[in-house]
Amino acid sequence: MDDAPFTTIIEPFRIHSVEPLTMTTRAERQDHLRTAGYNLFQLRAQHVLIDLLTDSGTGAMSRDQWAAIQHGDESYAGSPSYYVFVDAVRELFPFEHVIPVHQGRAAEKILFSALGGAGKVVPNNTHFDTTRANVEASGASAVDLVIAEGRDPVSDHPFKGNMDLAALEALLAARADDVPCVMVTITNNSGGGQPVSLENLRGVREICDRYGKPLYLDACRFAENAWFIREREEGQGDRDVSDIVREISGLADGMTMSAKKDPMGNIGGWLAMNDDDLAQRCRNTLILTEGFPTYGGLAGRDLEALAQGLREVVQHDYLRYRIRSTAYLGEALVKLGVPVLTPIGGHAVYIDARALAPHLSPLEYPGQAVAVALYELGGIRSCEIGTVMFGRQADGTEQPASMELVRLAIPRRTYTQSHIDYVIEVCERLAAVAPSLPGYRITSEPPVLRHFTASFEPLR
Ligand code: F0G
Repeated sequence: MDDAPFTTIIEPFRIHSVEPLTMTTRAERQDHLRTAGYNLFQLRAQHVLIDLLTDSGTGAMSRDQWAAIQHGDESYAGSPSYYVFVDAVRELFPFEHVIPVHQGRAAEKILFSALGGAGKVVPNNTHFDTTRANVEASGASAVDLVIAEGRDPVSDHPFKGNMDLAALEALLAARADDVPCVMVTITNNSGGGQPVSLENLRGVREICDRYGKPLYLDACRFAENAWFIREREEGQGDRDVSDIVREISGLADGMTMSAKKDPMGNIGGWLAMNDDDLAQRCRNTLILTEGFPTYGGLAGRDLEALAQGLREVVQHDYLRYRIRSTAYLGEALVKLGVPVLTPIGGHAVYIDARALAPHLSPLEYPGQAVAVALYELGGIRSCEIGTVMFGRQADGTEQPASMELVRLAIPRRTYTQSHIDYVIEVCERLAAVAPSLPGYRITSEPPVLRHFTASFEPLR
């Protein structure tokens, strides 16, 4: 009895340096919303109480990361910090070439400048918005081939991020010459932070081998994905997460990475691959757009912080806390009857706005309505992942997205359980007012990635 494990899973750290939060009134928040054109990306961050807009670059660095920053060597070429970084990356992702970039989309831009082009088609389980935009900017088309369960908000499939292998095979059988590479996003962010199984990755590899196609990972949340594999996939429960990560990378030919997620950085990313010739072409573009290949748009100190972050993110105590604390929020919302995407993903809880505000049609942007209400009610900033983000088509027309989600993304090691308890209380109030939320219309929008800068107006 005395040795039985305790059931409270605590933060495996204590707080060393604090940032103040600013309280605002509802009337002030209504003003801020008007000024921002009802676009939460346009708010000033100091007007936000709990910022769940993204888990990207918003995590708290550790003491050891701040200490590593002091080791940063800012030599233009051949900095020792570059070698510390490359060694840490290759410990988990042993690719031949590791090319630092300032963030994930820079890796995407460079990779698809080399591999994309008119008439090409890139399959992915689900392209993140910047990945899709970079594929399309090259002239290629981006297709999402996630399994059917991955498009169903309430399917309890343990690996809803999996690629539909039959659909991938069919695409390659029909258009192999047009496919420059296959991508898999781990975890599948746009599909709800859902993991991809090792078995599925092996299946993708086998298909890629038969058609002679390279496999690239979009690996931003690789450690969370590996933890889910450890927890949910048969025969994986005793493995070290680092070991699972190495097996995943062994199945791929390269990767794009935003180091602002699992590597615990506030900025950074990399592109990695085994293909010497492609690496040479990518480095040439890198020099034009990011910088010399041993710093690639980052300071030496950033490279040091990322190397340390990579060592921390694969620690089991951290991952147990991370995945459990996201589930804590999700499970509380389920208990309150707030419809959420299940199973709960790794980095975020996704409210199903279509189910919460069924009186709003997709072109009245139910996700936007819910996200604006969360801010107005409680100062919580979330992110619409629905028709605002994905509805505008390349030909300028508008189509409803497959799901209307509002993402509550949890920054790593940043908020405590009482912050999350407050979020739960605000969501309870949201559920009470959801049936009367107004829809929105767009009053101005840019031609691409409109969700960042569009302006809105409530419909009544
Ligand atoms: N791929 C995935 C799966 C992502 O989630 C992101 C960023 C990127 C690529 C691009 O990386 O921002 O460093 O250029 N996702 C952030 C988010 C922005 O909020 O989910 P980046």
